[in-house]
Amino acid sequence: MTFNDRTTPLTLLQTRRSGKPRDLVAPGPSPAQLDEMVAIAARTPDHGKLAPWRFVIVPDEARPALALKLVEILRAENPDATPRDEEAAAQFATQAPALVVVLSAPVQPHKVPLWEQELSAGAACMNLLHAAHAMGFAGGWLTGWPAYSDAVRDLFGGAGQRIAGFVFLGTPARPLEERPRGELAQIVHRWNP
Ligand SMILES: Cc1cc2nc3c(=O)[nH]c(=O)nc-3n(C[C@H](O)[C@H](O)[C@H](O)COP(=O)(O)O)c2cc1C
Repeated sequence: MTFNDRTTPLTLLQTRRSGKPRDLVAPGPSPAQLDEMVAIAARTPDHGKLAPWRFVIVPDEARPALALKLVEILRAENPDATPRDEEAAAQFATQAPALVVVLSAPVQPHKVPLWEQELSAGAACMNLLHAAHAMGFAGGWLTGWPAYSDAVRDLFGGAGQRIAGFVFLGTPARPLEERPRGELAQIVHRWNP
């Protein structure tokens, strides 16, 4: 199985795989391609037409500033952070050619349950990955400590929002390989009343 078979809509869906962000290299999507990807990602099912997500594109020239901010926040939140941890934080911010931060931005209070709005944010991330794949790129969806830091969240959004994922985009440095998948017999059932 190859992970770049985009010949039909079905093979496109069947062959999408994530790329490890640290192994994604140029070419990455252009600013216009990023705009197109997020426009596709915004076509995500969402109960109540609330658009409970935000996409924050981090432009190339802003990636070093993000690295500095992450290191600063790491130091403030974790006094025991080692130089190695700081290096990892900087590397996190600057890996892969492009980065889109997806925020869950639920409308609260609202009759549409929070859970449903959060599910929609996850679906938006998935839709972004599919759009990237369809446009010839690979994506990698990461969280890690920065996704759970309010200070990091505040760089991109505000109170009541959460980082659903850092979606890194680019071209795999080497061919992607399949990973173990859930056994369909275990995860798919036919309901029998
Ligand atoms: C919400 C979420 C957060 C994730 N965070 C991480 C992460 O921080 N580090 C990591 O190595 N993989 C993380 N992953 C896993 C990868 O994004 C990806 O699912 C995995 O590498 C294989 O994906 P594939 O089935 O698309 O090929 C996360 C996945 C999800 C859904």
